[in-house]
Amino acid sequence: MPDGAEKNEGLRKTSRLPFNRRLLPVMASLSTPPVGVFLVLALSGDIEAGPALLGATAIVVLTAFLLNPYGADLAQVTRYARDLSNGVETPPPALRTGLTADLLAALGQLRRTWKAHNADLTTLVRFHESLIESLPGPLFLLNRQRRIVRANLAASAIFGRQLQGRDLAAMIRTPALMDATARVLKGGAGADVEVSLRGPTDLDFRAMLEPLRESGPAGTVAVLTLHDITALKRMEQMRADFVANASHELRTPLSALLGFIETLRGPARDDAEARERFLAIMFDQASRMSRLVADLLNLSRIELNEHTRPDGLTALPPVLKRIADGLEIQAGQRSMTIELAMPPDLPMVKGKADELEQIFQNLMDNALKYGRQGGVVRVEARLTDDLPAGLAGRARTAVAVAVRDEGDGIEKEHLPRLTERFFRVDAARSRQLGGTGLGLAIVKHLVNRHRGLLTIDSTIGVGSVFTVYLPADGA
Ligand SMILES: Nc1ncnc2c1ncn2[C@@H]1O[C@H](COP(=O)(O)OP(=O)(O)O)[C@@H](O)[C@H]1O
Ligand SMILES: [Mg+2]
Repeated sequence: MPDGAEKNEGLRKTSRLPFNRRLLPVMASLSTPPVGVFLVLALSGDIEAGPALLGATAIVVLTAFLLNPYGADLAQVTRYARDLSNGVETPPPALRTGLTADLLAALGQLRRTWKAHNADLTTLVRFHESLIESLPGPLFLLNRQRRIVRANLAASAIFGRQLQGRDLAAMIRTPALMDATARVLKGGAGADVEVSLRGPTDLDFRAMLEPLRESGPAGTVAVLTLHDITALKRMEQMRADFVANASHELRTPLSALLGFIETLRGPARDDAEARERFLAIMFDQASRMSRLVADLLNLSRIELNEHTRPDGLTALPPVLKRIADGLEIQAGQRSMTIELAMPPDLPMVKGKADELEQIFQNLMDNALKYGRQGGVVRVEARLTDDLPAGLAGRARTAVAVAVRDEGDGIEKEHLPRLTERFFRVDAARSRQLGGTGLGLAIVKHLVNRHRGLLTIDSTIGVGSVFTVYLPADGA
């Protein structure tokens, strides 16, 4: 604190004067009457000039001597007050007289009150700081020039560290936000706009801009907060995509049906052979629509119940056997065989037989559809404690059922999307094979409902393995 130190030097210099100048008038008024008496006595000739002068001088010196401690105390208290106002912590001075004792006590009281207020203010400021910092969403304080006066932690996490002093437009260029900011900074009412940030991860925000009722420090006039609506936007997009996909899937067979009906009513009215052929195609198309509607209803029902885990215990071997038997004809059409391998002491798993059946029915159906003609589909069930990462925290052991085919395999890039509704690696092939593109989505949601996990491994030219892990230790 060089300033305070300099001032202190100054004070010390004044206090080194032999006599406090401020007491000169007091000294003058105290010594004037006795000096006057000497003067009158000297003038009237009662005493001689020499002794009169000596007497008057003695009076002045005595008055100065008596007043000096008061002057010194006054200087000390003044210096103490100056020190306090400069923020220098000095102990209160020891006084020689009682004249300024009350003043010193009052100063001490003032110092304590001031310190208490200061502490309260510091706590309050720190509290507000931590409030701003711990807000989950980004927050910016802006000045009238649209520059950032202050940004919180969440803002730094997204936009980087050095934000202070930067123009908001350097980070978010969305025109709607720029317009809203311009209006608010010119004194307009608060605004609310959507902002999309495109980068390595796309983010969507609802940006809310509010003018401050009173300007803050450093010219802050407005506050901008961003609320992350990325998940919401993604959901909206998914819903829109889903409706578009479902409509498209239904419209294709429906258009075919309408086309054939037109033909049967018109040109092919009397062609018995064509009628038979068309009716067969129409039956296929109608069946496809019916399958699609059934899968859609099924999927929405499963999704509704996904958060409640089914109760009851089911032994898997009879379920798997039943499915394999049911698929025998389909397998035979492609000269394929299904091999089951299950230990006799396989523990039961939590869940209902019909839902577990749907899971493995879909996987084995896929293996037959996309597996190698004439190949083998191996279904192997076992108890394991070697759990994939997603399940390891939730269970210690699981029944793992692997459905392995010898098909062409699936490209790595497609694997994460395989369980999305309507996602197919080869849409035409899937449709031709009577697929709806919903099978694996149904599998995923059913496995989730059973608190299990689905893993997919595939090697091009070798085949694919779809493994369902179901918790087996009552977890
Ligand atoms: N065993 C498999 N081998 C190769 N690709 C597969 C296999 N199982 C699924 N797929 C791919 O995943 C897609 C989605 O499967 P799914 O949801 O069951 O729909 P669908 O069978 O009706 O086409 C299939 O279209 C196919 O491209
Ligand atoms: Mg399928």
